Amino acid sequence: MEFNKIAVIGAGTMGMGIAWALGAAGKKVVLYDIKQEIVDTTLARIAKGLAKAEEKGQAPAGAKDFITGNIAGTAVMEDLKDVDLVIETAVENMAIKKDIYGKLDAILAPEVIIATNTSSLSITEIAAITKRADKVIGMHFFNPAMVMALIEVIPALQTSQETIDAIMELSKAIGKKPVLVKEGPGFVVNRILTPGMNEAAFILYEGLASAEDIDKAMKLGAGWPMGPFTLADMVGLDIASAVLNTLYTETGDPKYRPAPIIKQLVRAGWLGRKTGRGFFDYSKK
Ligand code: CAA
Repeated sequence: MEFNKIAVIGAGTMGMGIAWALGAAGKKVVLYDIKQEIVDTTLARIAKGLAKAEEKGQAPAGAKDFITGNIAGTAVMEDLKDVDLVIETAVENMAIKKDIYGKLDAILAPEVIIATNTSSLSITEIAAITKRADKVIGMHFFNPAMVMALIEVIPALQTSQETIDAIMELSKAIGKKPVLVKEGPGFVVNRILTPGMNEAAFILYEGLASAEDIDKAMKLGAGWPMGPFTLADMVGLDIASAVLNTLYTETGDPKYRPAPIIKQLVRAGWLGRKTGRGFFDYSKK
């Protein structure tokens, strides 16, 4: 199955990185969000990020023009009617997803696959709200999606083998390394990584070391590319908290309960880099 024109729903951090990764692989992308200004801000962020990446030698010369030329933006869902794949990265809220999937079902051709990048909701439940349950699948990218090689491919209970094969193939075709994972809370990476960030927050809460020193310890002692708090701030504390809550409620295991400091930061709206403040302050950087 060839996918040439792909819609990315949601112009947040993940939507941005996924659109960038697809555009870099030569795919035509339509980035959708509910407001044109959100889309425009993200398109500008992609262009700025690419200019910086070219400057630093992380992207080849000409990458900015090539990739931005492959990505269009819209706030009109009907504009997605001729795409041959949708990757959905909307907020982790089932009511919002239900609304989006209802609209998509009406607009898209019946054979179009919808892949969700959810990291905390049940893909089987998402599939069940559509009229194309066999064509719904998890396609879980990692932040920053234009850099990280992994894609977890997670079939719902209803997903057909044809859909699985198509998404595994596409993942390789865009230069990523897919790993097929059965559905379970947190899949593989988040099941391991998010409790790690949570444990760091408990250690901080207990006053064993400063956030800076805990980050330093994990970088120098465990070879993590970034410390747990820098990582949590990059992922977004709302996302980390949603993953922890899913692990906790789905398993009933208290080891996954979110650390109080994470809940407090989320309640303050200090969600990490995207809001300028999380465990660390980014407002002056
Ligand atoms: N192309 C474009 N931009 C690039 C790039 C590339 N090839 N490589 C790095 N960059 C960007 C980075 O995104 C970063 O952007 P900002 O300036 O906006 O901060 C910047 O360049 C700095 O990068 P560096 O040059 O310092 O590169 P680095 O060697 O430090 O690598 C990193 C950065 C790849 C993010 C690395 O630190 C890393 O691998 N960190 C761990 C990331 C991780 O664990 N991600 C998974 C999160 S969990 C998740 O996403 C799942 C979920 O559902 C919650």
